[in-house]
Amino acid sequence: MNPGRFLQSGSFPLLLVFILSTIIVGCRDNEYSDILTSGGSVASPEQLSAGNSTIFTSTSKAYDTPANWVTGELMERFLKGDQLYDSPRVSGSDPANGGLGPVYAGYSCGSCHSDAGRTKPSLFSSGGSGPYGFSSFLTFIRSTHGQNLRQYGRVLHDQAIYGKVPEGKLHATYTETEYSFADGEKYSLLKPHYEITDWYADSITADQLVMSVRTPLRHVGLGLIMAVDQNEIKQLATIQYPAYGISGKINWVQERNVKVMGLTGHKAQHGDLTVELGFSSDLGVTNDRYPHEVAEGQSQSDGNTDIQITTEEMADVDFYLHALGVPARRSVNNSVVQQGKELFNTAKCNLCHTPTLHTRQGGGELIDGSRLPWLGKQVFHPYSDFLLHDMGPELGDDYSQFDATGDEWRSTPLWGIGLQEVVNGHSYFLHDGRARNYVEAIMWHGGEGDVSRQIFKKMTKDDREALIMFLRSL
Ligand code: HEC
Ligand code: HEC
Repeated sequence: MNPGRFLQSGSFPLLLVFILSTIIVGCRDNEYSDILTSGGSVASPEQLSAGNSTIFTSTSKAYDTPANWVTGELMERFLKGDQLYDSPRVSGSDPANGGLGPVYAGYSCGSCHSDAGRTKPSLFSSGGSGPYGFSSFLTFIRSTHGQNLRQYGRVLHDQAIYGKVPEGKLHATYTETEYSFADGEKYSLLKPHYEITDWYADSITADQLVMSVRTPLRHVGLGLIMAVDQNEIKQLATIQYPAYGISGKINWVQERNVKVMGLTGHKAQHGDLTVELGFSSDLGVTNDRYPHEVAEGQSQSDGNTDIQITTEEMADVDFYLHALGVPARRSVNNSVVQQGKELFNTAKCNLCHTPTLHTRQGGGELIDGSRLPWLGKQVFHPYSDFLLHDMGPELGDDYSQFDATGDEWRSTPLWGIGLQEVVNGHSYFLHDGRARNYVEAIMWHGGEGDVSRQIFKKMTKDDREALIMFLRSL
């Protein structure tokens, strides 16, 4: 740190905060005093969501802004990755022919993760994929015997280029049920029912099919998640709270024939940032790791055997994702927000949405082996334990992934959630976007989350609102 600048800021409470944070952080030597807010003052530890990767942006670009350590050549690489991420893949010279195809689920990474966030789903507006619509969802499909379906792959490609037929269309209907809080105020939940129609080849009946409908995840803090000190997660997995029925579990996943800790995806079913898989399976872009067309084996495959993106380019996209900054918390000194923070703990939310974790010494590493030391030795606040929890049959979908059963989901990291409406213009939450707002997201918590739901249900209206104000400050 720079003592000169620190002393100039000269305020006693800041000095105290600095000394306290130094004691708490101890030898992790996270140099809080070096990080300035957009107003030029020294940031308080409470504001710093991700140590030196914290950015002071709360606009619609809040998820899509590089961390401050991204400069010079790193910035060039970031911009290259960003461009590859956002540029639409097209089948012909006319960019209106969205999608590379022959079949696909999205036409660019950004089509589903707009501004590195969660694109507004079309489920409520067009009832699913719609005849021409684009859903931004991924629908995972397999047979009840756990196999890929003949003629179809792992993902339902509900879009196709001109002249080809989508594999099928996702159709969603909802049953609405009204409930009441202890104080009598009403809320309602929409239970989704999914069906796939218009199968392009063999029609698969509902009793032959297991499916899981997934909304995109916000790309907040992916670099820190990849650099997390995995011993800390292992430690969290050993802690049980029998009084509340809570115990988290690691999803050990198989990747490149090695067993790794699952950290990303709604069921923590991936150990990396899924760049190669995303290009192949979501966009239909063949690459070295996945050289086969997703339509391979289908009568409408175009027989392409070329590699459509290089490993170097994919590493740039991987860098872009690792280097995204994490928005600082806002309104940390607001008394309602502070009260909400306490209520978050009272309601046991913090037992799964773990406020604080640390990254390992060496930082992160990209798919091409380049090292990212800037991500090392940071204190960060993801509000997730990255563990699986059984959230009950109401949220479950029978689609297991590695050690995750149908009812188990990864605690969604809540950092940045308060800006989802600013970035993506909607407040649909949970793995399939069924919750229309914060209240509904909480009231869907069953299984291990039931105790939290019951505590929230009995709170006064003021307390419920304070807790949500706290979530909005993340
Ligand atoms: C058709 C929509 C769609 C497209 C296109 C798409 N994604 Fe995703 N992405 C999703 C969904 C849905 C999820 C959550 C699925 C799950 O549970 O694995 C997801 C999850 C992810 C995650 C895990 C994030 C986390 O926080 O755990 C990463 C990283 C990611 N996508 C990167 C990419 C990249 C890179 C591309 C482009 C190569 C891409 N995505 C293209 C829909 C899409
Ligand atoms: C037992 C662990 C557990 C507890 C306790 C818990 N959650 Fe969750 N939370 C989860 C899991 C797992 C998910 C993902 C569920 C899904 O997507 O279906 C989740 C999802 C959420 C989401 C949706 C995030 C998004 O972007 O989609 C919010 C908001 C949320 N939790 C807030 C809370 C609050 C507030 C509390 C306390 C009142 C709480 N949670 C208690 C595990 C927990």
